[in-house]
Amino acid sequence: MADEQLTAPTKTTATRTSRTRVKPVTQVLGIDIGGTGVKGAPVDVTTGELLAERLRIETPQPATPEAVAAVVAEIAAHFNWTGPIGVGFPGVIKDGVVKTAANVDKSWIDVDASKLIADVTGSPKVCIGNDADVAGLAEVTFGAGKDHTGFVIMITLGTGIGSAFFFNGKLLPNMEFGHVEVGGKNAESWASDAAREREDLKWEKWGKRVDRVLHTIEDLVWPDLFIVGGGVSKKSDKFFPYFTLRTPIVTANFLNDAGIVGAALHAK
Ligand code: BGC
Repeated sequence: MADEQLTAPTKTTATRTSRTRVKPVTQVLGIDIGGTGVKGAPVDVTTGELLAERLRIETPQPATPEAVAAVVAEIAAHFNWTGPIGVGFPGVIKDGVVKTAANVDKSWIDVDASKLIADVTGSPKVCIGNDADVAGLAEVTFGAGKDHTGFVIMITLGTGIGSAFFFNGKLLPNMEFGHVEVGGKNAESWASDAAREREDLKWEKWGKRVDRVLHTIEDLVWPDLFIVGGGVSKKSDKFFPYFTLRTPIVTANFLNDAGIVGAALHAK
């Protein structure tokens, strides 16, 4: 060993080194598991572009690990995918293991989701992260938070409320500010897009609720920028006018695809 280190590399060594160099991953299948739909598409992780039209399948109910994993396998098969897979999941994830499941079946808790999805898809590499964290990653890398220094918070408004914190582009994972208490209520159950639909709220009433949630967050942690994502962010002109925040706020660039793109980037 010592001899090897002292000797200058021979031609053979150099050739072997260049032959075995690992090629950087450029294409990853991104999967976004949501409370109502599971979406996926192959992504070019060097540009953030989808390489094919995304496939969306309704989330099975009950959304158990087996049922959802079968849908993920169906999406992988649809794209004939044998490469790496990145997954965004609507709960806290620690080392590939699910720790909370507010909007999917509780039987997900403590499931090693990376392993489960690797088993059903046969993928050599599966990387799973919180859905808001990975969506935020897409935005700070290629979207509305690109080149933004300081403290950026991504908020996703959907079945639940997700939040992701970035400082100088670096993620601090599993920030569950969608469950912050506002007026004695869990923010998510009162101000998510699902709550708007469930209670048939007018844009003004709902916009003011979201404003209160964001105020609570900005008073606690003082971000430099909010990015708002989730399907409803397409209609930001209907509810942004009711915001009274001191923090600058913009909509996500990727809109509905942030989860897919970010899941792929996270796996890269
Ligand atoms: C979960 C978060 C998730 C958010 C959006 C919340 O209920 O606790 O982990 O990011 O929903 O799906």
